[in-house]
Order: sequence, then structure tokens, then C-alpha cells
Amino acid sequence: MKILRITSSPRKEYSKSIKLGAAIIEKLLAAHPGASVKHKDLTASPFPHLEEVHLKGFYTPVEYRLPGYDEAVRHSDEAIAEIKEADVLVIEAPLYNLTISSTLKAWIDHIVRNDITFRHTPDGDVGLLTGKKVYVAVTAGYIYSEGPGKAKDFVRPLLQAILGMLGITDVTFIMAEGLSVPGVKETAFQKALDSIKI
Ligand SMILES: Cc1cc2nc3c(=O)[nH]c(=O)nc-3n(C[C@H](O)[C@H](O)[C@H](O)COP(=O)(O)O)c2cc1C
Repeated sequence: MKILRITSSPRKEYSKSIKLGAAIIEKLLAAHPGASVKHKDLTASPFPHLEEVHLKGFYTPVEYRLPGYDEAVRHSDEAIAEIKEADVLVIEAPLYNLTISSTLKAWIDHIVRNDITFRHTPDGDVGLLTGKKVYVAVTAGYIYSEGPGKAKDFVRPLLQAILGMLGITDVTFIMAEGLSVPGVKETAFQKALDSIKI
């Protein structure tokens, strides 16, 4: 089994999403001895915001690409190849300003490509990255799965929808939330660790 781990927090040893991702990986390896892990740290080599050259590169057939287009598309092609190769993805998603970090979003912008990872049809979009399992490690200062924050739970629906668009429908969210809320923060992370079911 091949696992692709995506890190998007820049906080290194202080990061809760990295710790949660590591715990998911540990349980995956215990359940599947011999599985391999490829670790992609998006903060080490961030994907750029989509610029004109990327979009022209994405939408111009290879034989008509101008100089520079191939280079602009290369990182996207590599990222997509990494996902295709993986059976399981572990995505670490720290919550920033009610959504995912722009670092993670930039990676997503490079892997969602018409006719490469999904296709528009009259009956709706068809995802082309099927047969994969995804675990998402979400970390948040506040609480979004219940109570007053529930109406602002944007991260899970967003990731569920975008992964679904690519054909990835088997998605499990592991939430460490309330990490800054007194009375909750003391046990929140352990609760998240205990909730990991492989
Ligand atoms: C720039 C920034 C924005 C944040 N915005 C939110 C937010 O909107 N809601 C929330 O619950 N926590 C927010 N937080 C708290 C983080 O979600 C929390 O610290 C989490 O542990 C970050 O993940 P990490 O520890 O892996 O870096 C924010 C943190 C930062 C640095």
C-alpha cells in the first residue's frame, strides 16, 4: 500500500496538524505493515498562486504550448502523478481564517485539472482519481462540529466537495478542534487522537 502524506502547516514541531497526521500514519503502518509513505511538505516548496502561464499551460494542448508553459505545468503534473500513485492520502489541514490555508489551496489549484483529474459531462462532473482513501487531519482553535461554530464549518464541506469532484469519495475527517478554548483545549488533542479509526 502506498501512502501520500501532505503537510501544510509551517509550524514544524509546534504544529498540531503535523502531530495528528503523524498519528494517522502510525496507525496506518500498524494496520498495513510494509506500506510506504511519501511525505510532501507544501511549506518547504509551496505551489504558486495560479498565474496566466499556469492557466495557459493547463489548457493548451502539448503540441501548441509556448516556451515556459511546460515548466509552469510540470509541478502540477508531478503532484497529480503522486496522487495517482497513492492508495491512501493523509492531508493535514490547519484551519486558517475559517478555511484551509492558502498553502493547501494552492496545491489543490494545481491538482484540479479539466480532462486530467476530472471531466465535465452533461450529467455533471466525473472524477478521474477514483479508488483512493483519504484521511484529513483538521486542527482548529475553535469548535465547528457543534454549537455556535457549526454554521461556519466550511473546511469539511469544501474538502469533501473538491475531493469528490476528483472522484475521491472515501474521506474520513479527524478533527482536533477547540485547541484554544478553555475547558476544551486541555483534552481536545487527545480526543482527536482517540478518534482515529483505520
Ligand atoms: C493565521 C491563522 C488563522 C487562524 N484562523 C483560525 C480560525 O479561523 N478558526 C480557528 O478555529 N482557528 C484558527 N486558527 C488557529 C489554528 O487553526 C490552530 O492554531 C491550529 O492548531 C493550526 O494548525 P497547526 O497547529 O498544525 O499549525 C488560526 C491560526 C492562524 C495562525
